[in-house]
Amino acid sequence: EKGGFSSFMDKEIHDQPAAVRDTLLGRLDEKGRLTLDELHIDESVLRSVDKIVVIACGTAAYAGHVARYAIEHWCRIPTEVELAHEFRYRDPIVTEKTLVVALSQSGETMDTLMAIRHAREQGAKVIAICNTNGSSIPRESDASLYTHAGPEIAVASTKAFLAQITAAYLLGLYLAQLRGNMYSDEVIEILDELQKMPEKVQEVIDNEKQVQDLGTQMSDASSVLFLGRHVGFPVALEGALKLKEIAYIHAEGFAAGELKHGPIALIEEGQPVFVIVPSPRGRDSLHAKVVSNIQEIRARGAITIVIAEEGDEDVKQYANHIIYVPQAPSLMQPLLATVPLQVFACALAGAKGYDVDQPRNLAKSVTVE
Ligand code: M6R
Repeated sequence: EKGGFSSFMDKEIHDQPAAVRDTLLGRLDEKGRLTLDELHIDESVLRSVDKIVVIACGTAAYAGHVARYAIEHWCRIPTEVELAHEFRYRDPIVTEKTLVVALSQSGETMDTLMAIRHAREQGAKVIAICNTNGSSIPRESDASLYTHAGPEIAVASTKAFLAQITAAYLLGLYLAQLRGNMYSDEVIEILDELQKMPEKVQEVIDNEKQVQDLGTQMSDASSVLFLGRHVGFPVALEGALKLKEIAYIHAEGFAAGELKHGPIALIEEGQPVFVIVPSPRGRDSLHAKVVSNIQEIRARGAITIVIAEEGDEDVKQYANHIIYVPQAPSLMQPLLATVPLQVFACALAGAKGYDVDQPRNLAKSVTVE
């Protein structure tokens, strides 16, 4: 069933173009307009939402962090993302106007389920974004938007992450349109970009050899750091989690802007650091800021592994290794930049001789609190 791949994780990395494509499928009409009829929540309720709280754990929570940038930008609704186990126990402010979005691959994560119950007791509406039909989380939610990534077997989540981001973006666009924050043609434009993503994800996968070699080469590393900014920040966190989970290496993700507030003290000769670079075509000069972060860590001896957009020549001179991903609007970048990090972790763990599908101490679904 691994379809010729060495592990389920490897296979599931390769399933990602299909996971994104299938999650979009059936949600756009023939004119490219968004139709989410499956969300059986009264439109007037969705129009009156004054806060969104995304709850999830692990990789699903990082997908939530990515989605937050898009949802706030498109919908202008204050959006928080919280780990389900923290949310539940801090007496959160939840009202009938709060929309809770619960993200879960398995649909059986007990921490997330308990948080859903708590939110509904306070009168909030809950939309589940889930990959498993008929599982507990969609059953206990007011509505569900399924990701169509197909069954995910490897403990380390890969294709579910990309599918969760895709589905959460659809929800964000839907709300923006419903609430009049966006015109249908603007929504159609973004949907058009989204539809180009499966092909672009495939392009990243087609270049996996370079990253696999890097993973094998670096299998003796005792610590790997990840830096990102804006949507690249949760991608950095996800890259670090993959490495911890399956390669048992100390790994940490930081917001690149936070470097000078502490983490730069960690940099010494030979420290590998992945940096996810925003598009040079983006606004807000974030590209220049991250490039200057790379210079700072290079000057202190870091080995920089830079993930940048094709055509970004400026950053090349500061990279020990450069991994190019196709050009895409900033908000779409996580769907591309995450892939090399998954491939890297999978190759590195494989080179160490570990079973990447069944890492020690972990279960695929965490059904206890
Ligand atoms: O099934 P869920 O999406 O609710 O699972 C949440 C986390 O347990 C899960 O993402 C975990 O962090 C993965 N092992 C990460 O690779």
